[in-house]
Amino acid sequence: MSLFATKSIGRIMSEAEGGKHHLKRTLGPVNLIALGIGAIIGAGLFSLTGLAASKAAGPAVALSMVVAAIGCAFAGLCYSEFSCMIPVAGSAYTYAYATLGEWLAWIIGWDLVLEYAVGSATVSISWSGYVYSLLKDFGITLPAAIAAGPLGMKLPDGSHITGYFNLPAVIIIVLISMLLIVGIKESARTNGIVVTIKLLVVLVFIGLGWKYINPVNYHPFIPPNTGVFGEFGISGIMFGAGIIFFAYIGFDAVSTTAQEARNPQRDMPIGIIGSLAVCTVLYILFSGVLTGILPYTKLGGVAPVADAVNETGIRWLMLAIKVGIICGYTSVMLVMLLGQSRVFFSMSRDGLVPPVFSAIHARFHTPWRSNILFCFFVAPFSAFLSLDIVGEMTSIGTLFAFVIVCAGVWMMRVKNPDTPRPFRVPWVPVVPILGIVWNFAMMYSLGWTNWARLIVWLIIGQVIYFSYSRYHSHLRQGGQTVSK
Ligand code: ALA
Repeated sequence: MSLFATKSIGRIMSEAEGGKHHLKRTLGPVNLIALGIGAIIGAGLFSLTGLAASKAAGPAVALSMVVAAIGCAFAGLCYSEFSCMIPVAGSAYTYAYATLGEWLAWIIGWDLVLEYAVGSATVSISWSGYVYSLLKDFGITLPAAIAAGPLGMKLPDGSHITGYFNLPAVIIIVLISMLLIVGIKESARTNGIVVTIKLLVVLVFIGLGWKYINPVNYHPFIPPNTGVFGEFGISGIMFGAGIIFFAYIGFDAVSTTAQEARNPQRDMPIGIIGSLAVCTVLYILFSGVLTGILPYTKLGGVAPVADAVNETGIRWLMLAIKVGIICGYTSVMLVMLLGQSRVFFSMSRDGLVPPVFSAIHARFHTPWRSNILFCFFVAPFSAFLSLDIVGEMTSIGTLFAFVIVCAGVWMMRVKNPDTPRPFRVPWVPVVPILGIVWNFAMMYSLGWTNWARLIVWLIIGQVIYFSYSRYHSHLRQGGQTVSK
């Protein structure tokens, strides 16, 4: 094992086990799978499944689900190996820091802001759309000016509203941040209730919707390509996978809580792979029912599930499903913002971002200042941007993180073959290489505008790294704190 990796992992572990930054170890395997499901099922399933079907894959969106799940499974195995080797807060950032060096770790930590912070903004915008729709069911119509940002929002009835400021989206981000400040134990308990409601919504939709499937809607199962890359046909299935990939984001958030897990070596793979497996089965069934009830051409609204339930004529179900979905989104945002604060917690302890991000509240034992700062960071994305822009930024950023994690596992096996690995990825390097290729293919399918956004974000990160982080890095200061 290289001297660098030995020092880094040892220092990370000893810091994790003691000192003033200590987090409470309160989470067991059931909590972790619940955290995973809580982070995974959300706007991707309830909004983007229909979008992917209507603009890219048709009924074959179920195949897009499989393509995306395979990419996630490769990455999930790699995340499991890393999270067992280095069971501390920080996710892919911490793994990269201990194995790939500070600069690459910075790149991935900065990139994870797209996944966690921008991802939570994405869900908040979709959440706002469902709240708008539910309030309308009760005869309350929010003024467009405060119901949607300047880029607008497409509603379930097909209409489009444009406003100045998406107030409901900002309100939910503030509420979730307050919950996280109160503490992980309370947050996990709340999450458990919400996950149960969300699973009920999915199961009830599959169970009741099954009877309303019209087999005609499955023909053609793979609509012929229109001549444009990504518009149906095989390339459409790939583009659909790039869109629907968002629906799987979140299982890796489990690894960000490794420092709060009671037995991380055993429970991390259970939490990551377990939550991913449960969701994959549900997604394939769910998308099959959705595209069976309505023709794929009618699934392009912000709430395709509501449209499909409407088709069944069961009115009470429509209300229940909207309420369930609104609750479900809440837990996704909770875990994403939790993951974000944990990543910056680790980066702060390494001196790469200011110490304010690792300040722990004396009573709540949470990085409360970090929660507040990220609340301010996420709110403008929620208030002013549109669902597709922030959603695609989230997807490409997360896929990039997956590619680096897969490469990192392979590099670490070559450089440090003797490091203890309580969980080992099978068939290295085949699995990591497949993970890199598969996830890169989905990045490719997301198109050049998203590549441009990713590159701009990474350039901003480099400016910060070379103007601040390098000079405050604890590693470069021999492990001493210099930024106080
Ligand atoms: N997978 C999460 C969702 O679909 C991010 O909302």
